[in-house]
Amino acid sequence: MKAAQISKYGGVEVIEINENAPDPSLKPGQILAEVYAASLNPFDSFVRGGYLKEKVPLELPVTLGGDFAGIVTKVGQDVANFKVGDEVYGAALVVAGGSGSLAEFVAGNTANLAQKPKNIDFVEAASLPLVGASAIQALEEHINLKQGQKILIHGGSGGIGSIAIQLAKAIGAYVAATVSTKDVGFAKSLGADEVIDFKVEDFEKIVKDFDAVFVTGGADVVDKSFKVLKRGGTIVSMLGAPSADLAKKYGINAIGQVTGTSSERLGTLAKYVEEGKIKPQIDKVFPLEEAKEAFKHLEEGHPRGKVVLKIK
Ligand SMILES: NC(=O)c1ccc[n+]([C@@H]2O[C@H](COP(=O)([O-])OP(=O)(O)OC[C@H]3O[C@@H](n4cnc5c(N)ncnc54)[C@H](OP(=O)(O)O)[C@@H]3O)[C@@H](O)[C@H]2O)c1
Repeated sequence: MKAAQISKYGGVEVIEINENAPDPSLKPGQILAEVYAASLNPFDSFVRGGYLKEKVPLELPVTLGGDFAGIVTKVGQDVANFKVGDEVYGAALVVAGGSGSLAEFVAGNTANLAQKPKNIDFVEAASLPLVGASAIQALEEHINLKQGQKILIHGGSGGIGSIAIQLAKAIGAYVAATVSTKDVGFAKSLGADEVIDFKVEDFEKIVKDFDAVFVTGGADVVDKSFKVLKRGGTIVSMLGAPSADLAKKYGINAIGQVTGTSSERLGTLAKYVEEGKIKPQIDKVFPLEEAKEAFKHLEEGHPRGKVVLKIK
């Protein structure tokens, strides 16, 4: 089968299109699927760059990618909740026991998959797993966001931010978002009540007494964000654990999130999508053969929403 692989760690130049990659082998608790589309996340660049090689050593060559949408072609031992022909979406990262999604076929753990939302196509579905699960975990589980509460979302035009704005509005919250100048109109179109241009404005001078902050971009905004929260408020950061000292000083519940792309979160996400409350946000679609160009766009192109590979 065809797959986007690496034989050594490095920049985009190490990505190779292998026309004769072996078909993935199926372990108990996994399904094999034909991949119709797969999307890229910053995490895929970290894996390619070798940033996890001490923690999770990989046997190279490996197939890149995690997020995908496709059709089940085979089910492994101990799999009861999926059958051949199911249209599924989810994650199959090599570092989490999958076979990597930037390929014509993928083996993935059923614990990281769910039935694809019925009202969207494979390209749209492939854009959602990690970013959607991240938004659900942060807003519904860590923050427990309620109607009428105020949330500030940093990085509102990125993969996670563009879904988090829509989720917060679906919950009925008041949403402020920080984005760069070119994306102010985009964030408004997603439903943000207040959009702050981080290139020219200081959010900490504009926002105050908020219930929650969700950080998906701008590592330097984490410390400054404590000042805009009410005592008892919550900050969730996708960029590492916030300062415990500042959390204590300001009386804030501070969480560094590690996202789990679980079937349960994917199921919740699918409901929001089917109800029309969350729409996938796709910046650009590439063929599998242009995986290098797709990664380059992800890393340098400041995409609005997601970069997706259409594979079938
Ligand atoms: N911990 C975990 O489990 C986990 C899981 C998933 C993702 N992540 C991390 O979470 C982050 C977000 O992921 P993503 O897929 O949404 O990435 P993304 O699509 O690259 O979005 C990041 C956004 O942050 C914006 N940004 C940059 N500097 C900013 C600033 N100073 N203030 C406000 N926004 C700023 C970027 O805008 P411009 O493009 O205009 O610069 C971009 O839209 C990434 O760092 C990713 O590695 C962590």
